[in-house]
Amino acid sequence: MSEIPKAELHVHIEGTLEPEMVFTLARRNDVELPYASVDELKARYRFTDLQSFLDIYYANMAVLRTQQDFYDLAAAYLRTCGGQGVRHAEIFFDPQAHLNRGVAMETVVAGLSAAIDDTADPVSAGLILCFLRDEPADSASEALRLAEPFLDRIIGVGLDSAEVGHPPSKFAEVFQRAHDLGLRAVAHAGEEGPPEYVRDSLDVLGVARIDHGIRALEDLDLVARLRQERVPLTVCPLSNVRLGSFADITQHTLPKLMSEGLLVTVNSDDPAYFGGYVADNFAAVRSGLGITDEDVRLLAANSFRASFLDDDRKADLLAEVAAWSPG
Ligand code: ADE
Ligand code: ZN
Repeated sequence: MSEIPKAELHVHIEGTLEPEMVFTLARRNDVELPYASVDELKARYRFTDLQSFLDIYYANMAVLRTQQDFYDLAAAYLRTCGGQGVRHAEIFFDPQAHLNRGVAMETVVAGLSAAIDDTADPVSAGLILCFLRDEPADSASEALRLAEPFLDRIIGVGLDSAEVGHPPSKFAEVFQRAHDLGLRAVAHAGEEGPPEYVRDSLDVLGVARIDHGIRALEDLDLVARLRQERVPLTVCPLSNVRLGSFADITQHTLPKLMSEGLLVTVNSDDPAYFGGYVADNFAAVRSGLGITDEDVRLLAANSFRASFLDDDRKADLLAEVAAWSPG
């Protein structure tokens, strides 16, 4: 079956760092790893919750040092896009995690954006700078200040990392600054955190999309609002299973989110850690949740509707989705 054309709207570039690349970059940069082999590293990829994943996600980033490293990381992800049917990607990156290790904002942005520039048609991509919500708000403001010379390479800001105990209101000021700079805004909310974090992301941060949002189903008024306002949710099924929100894929509430009439998209989150890229997430919900060909068409169309693409390109890509045949 040919992969349906789709946009990927929720992928952390650092979460595409495959175990083999961890070792390649560690050798290149003389970074000592606490694992002897790729297999030993992969054996650690058994997570119980978000924090247990984040601990290893941040530790592995220590191998990312030079512009070339960031280029290679993004180029490898963008090479996967063709085979996954991805025609457009809005890619998260976590600059504070790199700044904290002494890597300059310019090194990160220049490496990632050079890979995007070198990506052949028909794949397009943009960068979304995420603030780490478990760091102080001042650190987020400093990251945005350091990014200002590179704003022509950044389409928006996001909010990620450990959610519970770090409400959206903590970041009201830096999101206001981002809006003033003309950036789009998204935020992780309702992954492990409560429905109020989803509501506050909309009301306090002014976001255009909610990343994850699965816990919104606990609040029916919120569900009605998300439906009425056509707020996109970037759902990541394999991630939610691997981080323990659902016991297995058959328990995922994606069908419920869809039957509630929400603007749902399917994404990979951190594909090097969670067992697959975006088409693998589509395959998992087809086999595990009985998602039909027409559901797949709706999810793919939603991914373009929810993207920050201009209206002409959206219309072209939506026409391709309509013409796709499952064959
Ligand atoms: N950073 C990378 N992946 C994340 C996730 N699933 N939730 C929050 N922060 C993240
Ligand atoms: Zn995420």
